[in-house]
Amino acid sequence: MSERVDIMTPAFRADPYTPYAVMRREAPVCQVDPGGMWAVSRYADVATVLRSPERFSSQGFRAAWQPAWVGHNPLASSILAMDGPDHARLRGLVSRAFGAPAIARIEQRARDLCERLAGRLDGEVDFIAAVAAPLPAFVISELLGLDHALEPRFKRWMDDLLSVTPEPASAEHAARVRATIAELDRYMADVIEARRRSPSDDLVSELARAGDLLGDREIIDLLVSILGGGLETTTHFLGSSMLLLAERPSELDRLRDSPHLIPRFIEEMMRYDGPTQSVPRLTTSDVALAGVTIPAGSLVLALVGSANRDELRFTDPDRFDLHRGQPSLTFGHGAHFCLGAALARMEAKVALEVLLPRIGEVTRAPGEIPYNRTLTVRGPVSLPLRFMPA
Ligand code: HEM
Repeated sequence: MSERVDIMTPAFRADPYTPYAVMRREAPVCQVDPGGMWAVSRYADVATVLRSPERFSSQGFRAAWQPAWVGHNPLASSILAMDGPDHARLRGLVSRAFGAPAIARIEQRARDLCERLAGRLDGEVDFIAAVAAPLPAFVISELLGLDHALEPRFKRWMDDLLSVTPEPASAEHAARVRATIAELDRYMADVIEARRRSPSDDLVSELARAGDLLGDREIIDLLVSILGGGLETTTHFLGSSMLLLAERPSELDRLRDSPHLIPRFIEEMMRYDGPTQSVPRLTTSDVALAGVTIPAGSLVLALVGSANRDELRFTDPDRFDLHRGQPSLTFGHGAHFCLGAALARMEAKVALEVLLPRIGEVTRAPGEIPYNRTLTVRGPVSLPLRFMPA
């Protein structure tokens, strides 16, 4: 590769898969822009990075999301950014909240919401605003016991927090991110206080009760991490899935005729065009990988989106194949494997089961699709589609 790839350009965001293939072939461990971060693009190397916290620390989230201009970023200071026993302790405290009983409790309410949202899919509609953003916001409110009235704010909050890059795009961008962090801190502190006064059976009440184990700062950071982990990812996944179905009517017909294939569709979609494109890590020492030495203290992006298309791992990786049956790295690998994976799969299944029978036809509306601009997750910001109800 003669030049450094810039992973933030609109062209890269719209199609990262073509440049990923070049990176895997020519420079599987290389530096990219902005800022000369390291990028690892082959499946085997990405898996090595994710299961070697002693060499590739999760402090990478801090390096990626908490540059000096931001100040304290709750998203970069919690479970995602921890290693070793501290991480295990916090994960142990919250993992029960993501178990099967919690998911079963939320599922029927998510289904009811999808029934209501389905009515919006008539004529030209922005699928992100109509369904893909509201559903995950509703589910996280249920999980955490947050006020449903505030859901329209969630997306803006997370858009701002995830928009952090080593340098701010402008002074206005920097001010906006800092104001959002302050707003989130205030909101979460109020929620914790309210649950202390009047506990309920939600995760916030449980965490607030664990007062001697966790301080308010830790609880706020954790809540924001869960919000950050579960919102944009699932929104982008729902958006990319509906886009694929709009572009491939035969897949839509197949799923409508055989809804039992929906879980397979979800798994292959996670691989083919999953929302997590990269997971950040920080090298704890000089590390040799694929014949390249990455210096200590480097920000390394494990390019999960590229690993999922690696020809050394998947036969004919650019083909969408419902019957492939090979797991992807989209939910991560190792100690930080996504806590919300079962919840996200439930949301996607419920959405597709409810919406697909209601859709007679769906096609793309004219125009380019704008993709978001973040280091970690990728998906359409808005998605104008034309729906003809069944
Ligand atoms: C962790 C992806 C949905 C909460 C992760 C990681 C990935 C991921 C790749 C590992 C990060 C790392 O190794 O550093 C996804 C994708 C989703 C999704 C692709 C949807 C399609 C959710 C949902 C929630 C959630 C719905 C919760 C409501 C979390 C949490 C962690 C995490 C709390 C941190 C786990 C830890 O650090 O031990 N997710 N996620 N995720 N995810 Fe998800």
